[in-house]
Amino acid sequence: MADGTTKTAKLTIDGKDYDLPVYSPTAGPDVIDIRKLYAQAGVFTYDPGFTSTASCDSTITYIDGGKGELLHRGYPIDQLAEKSHYLEVCYLLLYGELPSAAQLEDFENRVTRHTMLHEQMMYLFRGYRRDAHPMAIMVGVVGALSAFYHDSTDISDPWQREVASIRMIAKMPTIAANAFKYTLGQPFVYPRNDLDYASNFLRMCFAVPAEDYEVNPILSRAMDRIFTLHADHEQNASTSTVRLASSSGANPFACVAAGIACLWGPAHGGANQACLEMLQEIGTVDRIPEYIARAKDKDDPFRLMGFGHRVYKNFDPRAKVMKQSADEVLDLLGIEDNPTLQVAKELEKAALEDPYFADKKLFPNVDFYSGIILEAMGFPTSMFTPIFALSRTVGWISQWKEMIGDPQLKIGRPRQLYMGSTLRDYVDMENR
Ligand code: CMC
Repeated sequence: MADGTTKTAKLTIDGKDYDLPVYSPTAGPDVIDIRKLYAQAGVFTYDPGFTSTASCDSTITYIDGGKGELLHRGYPIDQLAEKSHYLEVCYLLLYGELPSAAQLEDFENRVTRHTMLHEQMMYLFRGYRRDAHPMAIMVGVVGALSAFYHDSTDISDPWQREVASIRMIAKMPTIAANAFKYTLGQPFVYPRNDLDYASNFLRMCFAVPAEDYEVNPILSRAMDRIFTLHADHEQNASTSTVRLASSSGANPFACVAAGIACLWGPAHGGANQACLEMLQEIGTVDRIPEYIARAKDKDDPFRLMGFGHRVYKNFDPRAKVMKQSADEVLDLLGIEDNPTLQVAKELEKAALEDPYFADKKLFPNVDFYSGIILEAMGFPTSMFTPIFALSRTVGWISQWKEMIGDPQLKIGRPRQLYMGSTLRDYVDMENR
């Protein structure tokens, strides 16, 4: 918590003044501390959607929405995407610093050796309908981890917290791949310890017992980059869900399952699936004006998926890397003139030139190009959000660990602006 504050904000209610401490963060706008406001003044603050409310203090990730900057522990995402790799970024998010060679080797070893699932869990997958959305399977199976790994659910024990963290990062690719295989009707492919994290995931998704699967290193690098770009994003809806669920003392597996449920929505992680489906529905460049007009029409609920962001009022830095990756992957796969990529590029251009999007500061976000890459790799749209979930797991876990370690931890309990009926007497059925 920021301390030694010298600034105060003055609030006057009915002629009475209240002094509120103001904290200056290491980056970003000042924050007014209103924690004692209700006790002192008997009023609540009102901020549905948390547009102006800091829910916690954190040292993990910083976004400057105006500049279009995303930093993990101070390091810019474009440098991490270019020079680092997912497991190193996981280490950075979890422990605060880039690892030494020995620390990284040890961390990778620990993750690699926890990728298998309890064999009994395979029956759990088989309990779902084959046509279940893989996110539905993930919500259930991740929550069920607490039933299989109860030796790491005691959140008061730092060792158990550490084991739970490693388990979740390690097992999430296996769970996502199994959910995929199950909906395909193919046998589950077990993880292999000689492969890196991304290659292992690709193999678990695409290998079949009938023939060997060789992981293309360029696709594996692209997969790793997608994981890296999604690793954390400060206090977004799913992360705040994980924090709120954890604030009651619930075990981390249950809390991450809650995060996955929140991520599923089309305004959040579900946007990558919705975006590719939108691009395919548009189909050809000549239909773009029709969809731009729909996105601007107040009476039409349609929104340009993959566009706009609560925090970024400039380019999402992840979208830039993603666009470059889309070109590289399609080039590698020899996919020339991909119609969806063509529609995406023209749609982006048309939107950026349109005053509606410029005035509202709506730019492409991370989801605009990610679906094109994932589709080219062979993933169906239903797998896009599970891949987001597996990538974001480290972010959820890092934020959870930070929160649990905070001595000031309190259960999250927002207040409300009640606009319903006041006290009234029950009316018997015959008198209604
Ligand atoms: N298309 C058309 N208009 C839009 C869009 C869009 N994609 N996004 C925002 N607007 C308009 C919106 O209608 C509103 O207009 P007005 O002020 O006239 O009422 C204004 O811009 C502000 O929008 P808002 O909904 O108040 O902004 P928000 O911060 O609550 O929502 C958002 C942010 C990401 C939910 C929203 O931009 C959106 O729905 N985008 C499409 C879905 C999407 O791509 N989501 C992925 C986000 S990035 C990945 C992740 O973090 O999960």
